[in-house]
Amino acid sequence: MKARIAPSILSADFSRLSDEIAMCVDGGADMIHLDVMDGRFVPNITFGEKMIDAVRKLTSLPLDVHMMVEEPEKYFETFAGAGANGMTIHVEAAPHLQRQLARIRELGCTAGAAVNPGTSLVTVREVISDLDLLLVMTVNPGFGGQEFIATSPEKVARARQMLSDARSHAALEVDGGIARDTIASVWRAGADTFVAGYAIFSASDPKAEIAALRNICMETA
Ligand code: DX5
Ligand code: ZN
Repeated sequence: MKARIAPSILSADFSRLSDEIAMCVDGGADMIHLDVMDGRFVPNITFGEKMIDAVRKLTSLPLDVHMMVEEPEKYFETFAGAGANGMTIHVEAAPHLQRQLARIRELGCTAGAAVNPGTSLVTVREVISDLDLLLVMTVNPGFGGQEFIATSPEKVARARQMLSDARSHAALEVDGGIARDTIASVWRAGADTFVAGYAIFSASDPKAEIAALRNICMETA
């Protein structure tokens, strides 16, 4: 299994967006993670369609859009049109989860479901066949640079078991507090896709940090 690294541009310097994206590309990032926040589902407000469109023009890497918003279905078409390759919605904001995931696929994107730290994995069990990606949050969403929740690896291990029991090929992504000192624990637990914002963009050599994170996984049995 290969470890995929998804830099979250939430911690990037937006005044130098094209340099920051070029850095991710040169550093070997597997995708770019975009954190859309609406000030309702989470307290913070970030960006939407315009940012997806801007990043799309700067790279051909897959754009992994993490929607921390109420009523995510309102944005599916515009985000897909702006160049999103994958959209991940929160089960806490998706009462019609199966229909919403199916709609994301219909638009030609990969469909993801995210669970907050306090949300049980049971909430996604019935839709595993509709999932291309399962995101297990390792912080409570809303801000970059938060501390990794220590009980996360155990939950990730249960998520991996649930996917393999269902013979699902969905990616298993983790997001929040992923850094050199935490990534091995979730890799060992079965995660294959790692979002990292603060760890990459605050590093003295951000490009090298992408490789360093991946290498820690590759060197961890
Ligand atoms: C948290 C966001 C994350 C965040 C990554 O609400 O979903 O993607 O930017 O966090 P750090 O900075 O901890 O890697
Ligand atoms: Zn995110």
